[in-house]
Amino acid sequence: MLRLMTAILLVCLSATARAQSIEEKANVCGACHGEDGIPQDKAFPIIWGQHAGYLYLQLRDFQKGVRKNEIMQPIAEGLTKDDMMALAEYFEKKQWPKLPQAAASGADAATAKRVNGSIGCTGCHLDQYQGDGSIARIAGQNHDYLLKTMLDFRTRDRANNPGMSDLMNAASEDDLKAMAAYLAGF
Ligand code: HEC
Ligand code: HEC
Repeated sequence: MLRLMTAILLVCLSATARAQSIEEKANVCGACHGEDGIPQDKAFPIIWGQHAGYLYLQLRDFQKGVRKNEIMQPIAEGLTKDDMMALAEYFEKKQWPKLPQAAASGADAATAKRVNGSIGCTGCHLDQYQGDGSIARIAGQNHDYLLKTMLDFRTRDRANNPGMSDLMNAASEDDLKAMAAYLAGF
């Protein structure tokens, strides 16, 4: 799997270097984030329809190395600030895809509502978890990615937003599993 990913990455990087227009640069992203917005892997995030402010900040953080990921860091390093802003605006205008993810079980939904009641996720992510500006949309995001990134915040492997890390530490791992199921099927 890792060898395959590295091969895809190398093809993508040389394509990024050659690519000229934003559409051509965006086609490179489709290899993983999906030609039609549906990610190729359950651990890859949806970026179609995500907020431009949030997308831009993530690309910037990968480039600066404050958000670490062996796939995305080299890709972001090949982009200029103007590319990152243009790509963020390009993907924001796309339609968020509906993934075939089941609604959470009653038990998971109850746990997620309790967690939201104590931590106040919707205070920032808004009442439908739709986000805005630099706050990510998390409703309907890819399940395995949601769980991975919340756990990465929790262990501070994802260190680009210490506030989110503190909040994820106010919940247990089981709480976050329920939250991922709830948000994925929202
Ligand atoms: C080889 C696969 C691959 C390619 C090509 C790729 N990405 Fe990614 N991208 C990923 C993975 C995997 C992650 C999740 C990283 C993590 O778990 O922290 C990610 C994360 C992201 C994120 C963060 C999303 C979020 O919800 O926080 C953004 C933004 C992003 N990619 C944009 C892009 C753009 C723009 C391109 C094209 C220039 C691109 N990616 C190309 C695999 C890829
Ligand atoms: C004080 C405001 C605030 C609260 C409360 C909050 N978040 Fe966040 N959250 C953010 C911000 C800002 C980001 C973007 C961080 C970044 O730039 O990397 C974020 C990012 C995320 C992400 C990553 C999205 C992605 O695409 O990678 C997830 C998942 C998430 N939050 C879930 C939650 C959950 C679940 C709760 C409640 C248990 C919660 N958040 C509470 C502000 C908040």
